[in-house]
Amino acid sequence: MVTTVLNGKTVSDAMLLSLAQTVRSLHLQTDRDPGLSVVLVGDNPASRVYVEAKKKACAKVGINSFDYRLAPEEGEGALIDLISHLNSDPDVHGILVQLPLPKGFDEQKIIEAINPAKDVDGFHPMNVGRVWQGLAGFKSCTPYGVFELLRYYDISVEGKHVVIIGRSNIVGKPLASILVQRAAGANATVTICHSKSENLHQLTRSADILVAAIGVPGFVTADMVRPGAVVIDVGINRVEDESAKSGYRVVGDVDFASVSAISGAITPVPGGVGPMTIAMLMKNTVESFERDIAEVKE
Ligand code: GUN
Repeated sequence: MVTTVLNGKTVSDAMLLSLAQTVRSLHLQTDRDPGLSVVLVGDNPASRVYVEAKKKACAKVGINSFDYRLAPEEGEGALIDLISHLNSDPDVHGILVQLPLPKGFDEQKIIEAINPAKDVDGFHPMNVGRVWQGLAGFKSCTPYGVFELLRYYDISVEGKHVVIIGRSNIVGKPLASILVQRAAGANATVTICHSKSENLHQLTRSADILVAAIGVPGFVTADMVRPGAVVIDVGINRVEDESAKSGYRVVGDVDFASVSAISGAITPVPGGVGPMTIAMLMKNTVESFERDIAEVKE
């Protein structure tokens, strides 16, 4: 079977271009620009790479990016103070605190300190709850990116069985909340599997669309996939590779070589879901800016 490789980089680039046009036209109307604050605590190397990628995307779209670096020793209090300052800064439309936070930080408390109207990550319980209820709210960027990628390639999930491996608050649960809605581009039958799921192979083989979001390199092998199924790989794992200059290589949760031989469509890693996540962060930030402009006008 010839599989379709779903190119997230191409789709993301197209979305960034379209967002840049929106921002330019809003600038002409209002003389204002959107702003995104990205806060990094500590110096986790993977987080640093993500933060740089976000900065680059902001530059492409015309979003002002404000970078904040805190040392872990400054503590949770300093982070909360910074968030409350950003919450009330009219030039900031999105606040992103890069996760994971160092030991000793209460992630839930930090997420809940962010004004839901600026929570462009879509992690605040207010946004999570609103999305579950089918109301307007920021959708988390990775699930939103999966949704938009499927839409771009005209892969309908309506009435289809979507099986998600992984129940995280960042991917598994919010993806289910988006795809199960009674809404255009959704209406899927969704199953979430996790480490305690029995008969995992049986479940994954019943998927029309299989999403891997577990963080285990190469976890999904060809025997877990129904021939012709669409396979979405959300994993971004660093594995040692002596032949690489950096000493590591990035691989997904899917064994691409074996699965791509039987899938109907598949996302690569890198270049699949990853770039879509960043595009959706930009989209949410521009949306927050648009809401702000609309409020100021009223
Ligand atoms: N860490 C891994 N993915 C994400 C994300 O989408 N947002 C934030 N803030 N941190 C992350």
